[in-house]
Amino acid sequence: MAGTGTAHLRDADNDDLLLTVRNLVVEYDTGRAGKVHAVSDISFDVKRGETLGVVGESGCGKSTVAKAVMQLPQPTSGEVKFKGDDLAAMSPRELRSARRTLQMIFQDPISSLNPLRKVRHIVAEGLDVAGGRSRAEKQAMVDDILSVVGLDPDVAGDRRPHEFSGGQCQRISIARAMVVEPELVICDEPVSALDVSVQAQILNLLEDMKERYGLTLLFIAHDLAVVKNVSDRVMVMYLGKVCEVASPDLLYAEPLHPYTEALLSAIPEPDPM
Ligand SMILES: Nc1ncnc2c1ncn2[C@@H]1O[C@H](COP(=O)(O)OP(=O)(O)OP(=O)(O)O)[C@@H](O)[C@H]1O
Ligand SMILES: [Mg+2]
Repeated sequence: MAGTGTAHLRDADNDDLLLTVRNLVVEYDTGRAGKVHAVSDISFDVKRGETLGVVGESGCGKSTVAKAVMQLPQPTSGEVKFKGDDLAAMSPRELRSARRTLQMIFQDPISSLNPLRKVRHIVAEGLDVAGGRSRAEKQAMVDDILSVVGLDPDVAGDRRPHEFSGGQCQRISIARAMVVEPELVICDEPVSALDVSVQAQILNLLEDMKERYGLTLLFIAHDLAVVKNVSDRVMVMYLGKVCEVASPDLLYAEPLHPYTEALLSAIPEPDPM
């Protein structure tokens, strides 16, 4: 199935589906340079508890899809249904409330954190927006989640992002996303900026979180090797379209699309010598 294929789609009325995206189109207007067709009519869905990996080369539209799901900004056209409700049709207030259960973790851990704020305030941001909790309750939740992601709240809480390594900053980003108890977390290349050894730690932490909180993940990477290990299904994108969607094992064993084959052949073989 290539381009605008629909064979991978499941029945949109299926209650198990947490996210259904249909005929998503995103164009960027660049003024005199014309329109960029970043995402051209793509459809996919994510079941509750599933991890959908999204791979494809730089510029193929992965981050654009992620942002369109968050409605940041709204897509040009198409439908994004989260728990059965169309996010594009929501009022700003409804959208704010829906976004609480829909969180995003970004590629660059350091620049995605406000450098001026202390870690405990950064992690508490989502709770502040949600309202309805006392300061003590929020502090207890922040301390709790910082411990879960492997940071000592007494030491880390009062520091600012520049005092941490890239891997530690990504732990802070994960804590910030998790503290509001989201149902769907979109991870946009969460380990691409990290050393290989730290990558494994962060991937393990995400897997841990998924199990502990029963999360559903949209996991974006440009590296098939990373996506293979964490995904239940993998969607391969090329030039703003979907090439194919399959389980990672099937994708490896029998890639249907020549582009998937090219991506697979780019994975280095371990050399025992
Ligand atoms: N704000 C923008 N204005 C104009 N064009 C944009 C904008 N954001 C992205 N694009 C273009 O849209 C296309 C898709 O970009 P996108 O960032 O979604 O790719 P990506 O797959 O996430 O790439 P990477 O792996 O490098 O993060 C690219 O051609 C990019 O240049
Ligand atoms: Mg990107």
